[in-house]
Amino acid sequence: MRRFVYCKVVLATSLMWVLVDVFLLLYFSECNKCDDKKERSLLPALRAVISRNQEGPGEMGKAVLIPKDDQEKMKELFKINQFNLMASDLIALNRSLPDVRLDGGQTLVRGSMSHGHWDFMQRSLKTSAVFSILEILCLKKARFFFSSRKTVVCPIIDVISDDTFEYMAGSDMTYGGFNWKLNFRWYPVPQREMDRRKGDRTLPVRTPTMAGGLFSIDRNYFEEIGTYDAGMDIWGGENLEMSFRIWQCGGSLEIVTCSHVGHVFRKATPYTFPGGTGHVINKNNRRLAEVWMDEFKDFFYIISPGVVKVDYGDVSVRKALRENLKCKPFSWYLENIYPDSQIPRRYYSLGEIRNVETNQCLDNMGRKENEKVGIFNCHGMGGNQVFSYTADKEIRTDDLCLDVSRLNGPVTMLKCHHMRGNQLWEYDAEKLTLRHVNSNQCLDEPSEEDKMVPTMRECGDGRSQQWLLRNMTLGA
Ligand SMILES: *[C@@H]1O[C@H](CO)[C@@H](O)[C@H](O)[C@H]1NC(C)=O
Ligand SMILES: *[C@@H]1O[C@H](CO)[C@@H](O)[C@H](O)[C@H]1NC(C)=O
Repeated sequence: MRRFVYCKVVLATSLMWVLVDVFLLLYFSECNKCDDKKERSLLPALRAVISRNQEGPGEMGKAVLIPKDDQEKMKELFKINQFNLMASDLIALNRSLPDVRLDGGQTLVRGSMSHGHWDFMQRSLKTSAVFSILEILCLKKARFFFSSRKTVVCPIIDVISDDTFEYMAGSDMTYGGFNWKLNFRWYPVPQREMDRRKGDRTLPVRTPTMAGGLFSIDRNYFEEIGTYDAGMDIWGGENLEMSFRIWQCGGSLEIVTCSHVGHVFRKATPYTFPGGTGHVINKNNRRLAEVWMDEFKDFFYIISPGVVKVDYGDVSVRKALRENLKCKPFSWYLENIYPDSQIPRRYYSLGEIRNVETNQCLDNMGRKENEKVGIFNCHGMGGNQVFSYTADKEIRTDDLCLDVSRLNGPVTMLKCHHMRGNQLWEYDAEKLTLRHVNSNQCLDEPSEEDKMVPTMRECGDGRSQQWLLRNMTLGA
């Protein structure tokens, strides 16, 4: 019933804006000025706009292809801002775009391109700038959704190719998270959030973190909760800092799924950072870890031990802010806002996993998703040899979980899915065995053929199946 009423309101507002748009177009379009004899009824005007918009480079969000002869020049121009300036300049300021909204389709969709490149970029906080703000209707609807002044809202971020300026719709099925290294990442929206919205994908998604750079917030509330951390430099980490702060201090963060903003993601930054990009980001991340993450900052430090040497300045002002606002602990955030977090709320161990027989340690070897986990001499320095055996009985290294999908099969690292299944391991603290529940086999030392990967074998009581799980301490 409520949904019906809601739909009616949305439709009515939408219709009103279509009419306003059409009226404005009719009133201001150059064609009307120069040709008074043109029919003034609604439909021909609409048709004219649509057909006119679908011609020309990049119209309807299509890729812009640069002719062969201009390729050299294009590459030169690309270097200036690290995106295809030539393609960007070919596209009309009022480029037409397809309607990518779930409940869309009632209106004309236009993108207002803002590509006065340089000054626009400089005003932007991020290494990549917002380029097109799409659809007045959605902004209206977004306002409709501001359920309280403490709600901070973000759009779905669509991707504009840095190469061809092709427009690609972002997904409403992912939301913001972060890994142990404190990199912002998109992860699938979990079932619990689908259930909370009773399956209605047009309702806002409560997101643990935001990408930053694109959000709306009540101006007074923005000041109340401490704007930005002035001790952070240039870029990196400020989006997580703000996300933790919003949730822990009583606000909420939502992605409004009917609101889309296109964004050019660049592969490299045209700016130079003092001391290098890495240094700036590490400093910023240390600040946010120290102020907001309590004991869970260990995950960050152990996986990237090098950052401990980075000076992060004075955080007493931010700690006082947290105190004054009576913000909740990070464990509350993990428990209530982000239970599917890559950082486990409860765990048995965080450190190395050492084989008793060979005295070697599991090692992710810096490999990626879908590859085998390795084993190597223990170095006690964290990084690639850090694993956590969680209360949910997963063996994790960052956002990857040890996974076995067949008998005697390889032990691969897959994205943790929180569904137990092939990622469920039983650690016996007396026998020291790690039994993979689905296959009922145990983790064992490498075979003669490949000395760099552990194997799965029938459980026995040999020392080669015994593993020591330790909590590692910082600086140890
Ligand atoms: C887009 O801009 C061009 C150039 O300014 C203009 O001729 C055209 O009518 C505009 N189209 C719409 C739909 O406003
Ligand atoms: C490791 O640390 C966690 C978190 O403090 C604790 O819950 C766990 O019992 C510890 N495990 C061991 C084996 O000491």
